[in-house]
Amino acid sequence: MITGANGLLGQHLVKELKEAGYAILATGKGEDRLPSLGGTGTYRYSSLDIADKTAVEATMSREKPDVVIHAAAVTQLDECELDQDRCFSVNVGGTSNIIVAAENHAGHLVYLSTDFVFDGERGNYAEDDPLNPVSWYGFTKVRAETTVGAAKIPWAIVRTCLVYGNTLQGTRSNIITWVKEKLENKERIKVVSDQVRTPTYVADLAKGIRLIVGKRAQGIFHISGKDTLTPYEIALKTADFFSLDKSLIEKVDASVFSQPGKRPPRTGLLIGKARKELGFEPLGFEEGLKTMWG
Ligand SMILES: NC(=O)c1ccc[n+]([C@@H]2O[C@H](COP(=O)([O-])OP(=O)(O)OC[C@H]3O[C@@H](n4cnc5c(N)ncnc54)[C@H](OP(=O)(O)O)[C@@H]3O)[C@@H](O)[C@H]2O)c1
Repeated sequence: MITGANGLLGQHLVKELKEAGYAILATGKGEDRLPSLGGTGTYRYSSLDIADKTAVEATMSREKPDVVIHAAAVTQLDECELDQDRCFSVNVGGTSNIIVAAENHAGHLVYLSTDFVFDGERGNYAEDDPLNPVSWYGFTKVRAETTVGAAKIPWAIVRTCLVYGNTLQGTRSNIITWVKEKLENKERIKVVSDQVRTPTYVADLAKGIRLIVGKRAQGIFHISGKDTLTPYEIALKTADFFSLDKSLIEKVDASVFSQPGKRPPRTGLLIGKARKELGFEPLGFEEGLKTMWG
């Protein structure tokens, strides 16, 4: 069972697991936005608002899934800052609903978390580094992680970082699609050079989660790309890749933006544990671009 199946990750997760032969119950808040997919597995779609405890219990007791991959969340940082109650009720309340139902009806829980659980003062974070979120979004993900960590069924927490790629159907903006679109329209863009991330190719993240599901792995795993880049460097590489005009990209500091939510400056995730215990090996950033858009 997958929550958030209409999202950027969710769509790639359904594809990856269906191709691997799994029988999938894909759930999302809205209508089914998944394209037709290949593979030997099967998938069904069911609308499910995770903030609705009764609906979560009904779905889970009916389906009794071996594994629940919980990817649904309010994921936009500024939206979380501006509507803290909604963000809390989905990201924390919704996760509690999933956990309570999974404890009764499911075999294993995989929860999707973020590099924004860290304060971004140091960068290159390992799984056991101290959590100290600087945004409401990050705070809700930490609260949810704590609840998952106390679950009475086997669990895994997957933290990832700046996911990029195309949705299989529909649009969901991410840094690459944003830079590409602006430069294609010959618009000037300001991109920060004082933040650091390990951008993650969405299909690699889906693969990492498939490895966790296959091994029923437990504990916290960092699943992200292997290159450490600033958003400014990401924008330059994107311009190069699509042969777009780099002179439209202006290098700036985060201080020029007045956004509702604070971004942690230096994150980036160390992936040594996932490499060693899962055999996870992501593509480099340019390889990711080539695979998705080449
Ligand atoms: N994208 C990133 O850069 C990034 C980085 C770090 C961590 N993550 C984490 O990875 C996970 C997946 O992210 P994503 O990029 O795939 O996000 P996304 O594209 O924003 O998708 C999130 C999905 O959550 C669903 N959702 C929202 N509220 C819901 C509710 N009340 N009930 C049920 N479903 C609900 C939405 O469903 P509908 O579309 O059907 O409304 C949406 O499709 C999230 O947990 C996120 O926190 C993402």
